[in-house]
Amino acid sequence: MSRPVALITGGTSGLGLATAERLLADGTRPVLLGRSRARGEQAVARLGSAAVFVPGDVAVEQDVAHAVEVAAGCGTLRAVVNCAGRAHAARVVGRSGLHSLKEFADVVESNLVGTFNVVRLAAELMARNEPVAGERGVIVNTASIAAFDGQTGQAAYAASKAGVVGMTLPLARDLGAVLIRVVTVAPGLFDTPAAEVLPEAKRAALAQSVPHPRRWGRAEEFAELVVHILGNPMINGETIRLDGGLRLPAS
Ligand SMILES: NC(=O)c1ccc[n+]([C@@H]2O[C@H](COP(=O)([O-])OP(=O)(O)OC[C@H]3O[C@@H](n4cnc5c(N)ncnc54)[C@H](O)[C@@H]3O)[C@@H](O)[C@H]2O)c1
Repeated sequence: MSRPVALITGGTSGLGLATAERLLADGTRPVLLGRSRARGEQAVARLGSAAVFVPGDVAVEQDVAHAVEVAAGCGTLRAVVNCAGRAHAARVVGRSGLHSLKEFADVVESNLVGTFNVVRLAAELMARNEPVAGERGVIVNTASIAAFDGQTGQAAYAASKAGVVGMTLPLARDLGAVLIRVVTVAPGLFDTPAAEVLPEAKRAALAQSVPHPRRWGRAEEFAELVVHILGNPMINGETIRLDGGLRLPAS
């Protein structure tokens, strides 16, 4: 049987890179789709030659089709982990003016349309896999607890992530017919490059807002949940919060 492959979007940094590292340790070959060539090369240097980087944007059909083709050439695509995503903050009517409509659409395009694009193109390939233990593949998407507790200034980000949560069940229902599961993880606060831009005082205050443990999550803890989801056939069509009990306040 050919080697299992995982396509990991946003796999060159943060949660995606930690997941790639963990899956590689378990014998799965990671194919990383990301926008930054420099980060892609750094990631492959860290993971070793079994990892493959494919430059591209999740919202662009040809980029994702190419990444899926590369994954097919590396072995059998058994898992997809969608970690590509961008943060965004702007009030609807803020001090610097009205929320840009284009920015709203761009965030939804990256985080929601991009996730769907990867799901559909990868599922088409996975649907041709020989079933192993009754399944052909598993897709894990990444939302955010902002999908449920969106804060001031998070209309675009929260809408994009709520869309990921909302499509999880219908995707699982569609793809159940071809023995593919779809699960979403909604992380709380995780210490990744995306969070490094915050000032230290703000980061410390945010850590104190988590009921238990009072700290930022580690990317390896996200990866650990992904590995569990991939291996547990009863988890399907569900969004799992991974947040230490955090419920975001209004601001
Ligand atoms: N870190 C957190 O606290 C946190 C919390 C909730 C949700 N998330 C979500 O987790 C996911 C991973 O975030 P992270 O914290 O690892 O941040 P990160 O910035 O390290 O990783 C995100 C990656 O996605 C890539 N990316 C963004 N848009 C893309 C696109 N259109 N096409 C291809 N690649 C694209 C970025 O270049 C980056 O490499 C994101 O979807 C983020 O919204 C993170």
